[in-house]
Amino acid sequence: MRETAPFDQPPAFGFRDGDTPVENRPMKARRAVIFDLDGVLTDTAELHYLSWQDVATDLRVPYDRAVNEGLRGLSREESLRIVLGDRWGEFDPARRADIMRVKNDRYLARVAAMTPADAFDGIPALLDALRNAGAALAVASSSRNARAVLERIGLAAAFDAVVDGNDAPRSKPDPQVFTAAAAQLAVPAPRCVVVEDAAAGVQAARAAGMRVVGVGPAERVGGADLVVPTPASLRADVLLALLPVV
Ligand code: BG6
Ligand code: MG
Repeated sequence: MRETAPFDQPPAFGFRDGDTPVENRPMKARRAVIFDLDGVLTDTAELHYLSWQDVATDLRVPYDRAVNEGLRGLSREESLRIVLGDRWGEFDPARRADIMRVKNDRYLARVAAMTPADAFDGIPALLDALRNAGAALAVASSSRNARAVLERIGLAAAFDAVVDGNDAPRSKPDPQVFTAAAAQLAVPAPRCVVVEDAAAGVQAARAAGMRVVGVGPAERVGGADLVVPTPASLRADVLLALLPVV
């Protein structure tokens, strides 16, 4: 598992496809759909919530679903900053690392209980339909646990590329994770549509120059090109209709 990969290494996505740098490779004229993971393919947003709640209870800091909404798409470190709020300065870096380790241990214990039945309804069929339509498929997640979650829900082999918080340390709303996924797929940004449940993710996709479909309430993902209420509402033809015909 890549959870412990150091942040100071160069991102893994830079030099694939032999030794040809990404920027010098010809882009293939095809289309891609890039999925966020947590809250789009499966309900890990709830598991993150429960795990931060455990930590907040231990530390006696106020924490509820409203605070949790603001954590969607943010890195573990940025999430901790929001969870601790005014009390951030009370914890030195070693203690903060310890809190994040505890949160992650709680989260991974919950992930360990996941099965393929935890993929959201309709997602496996949607991925099949997109592949049959010739789309390249990627996951682009801020999480450093993305590959472990994909394994648990039986979707690890369903994607052409997976870029996570190990590969792209600048978390959403920075576009790095989406740009990296498109580079791995060798599909130019205007031919990519992103599926996101987080405001930070919608912002990141737009900054990457991609189309974006928001999953969830308009108050959260209203900045997207199209908003659907649930992952089960996603349709392959509707997603691909957002992209230029190739
Ligand atoms: C994002 C989630 O996908 O990953 C955030 O939306 C989470 O809630 C972030 O904080 C980092 O996840 P992890 O698994 O590396 O702690
Ligand atoms: Mg998400």
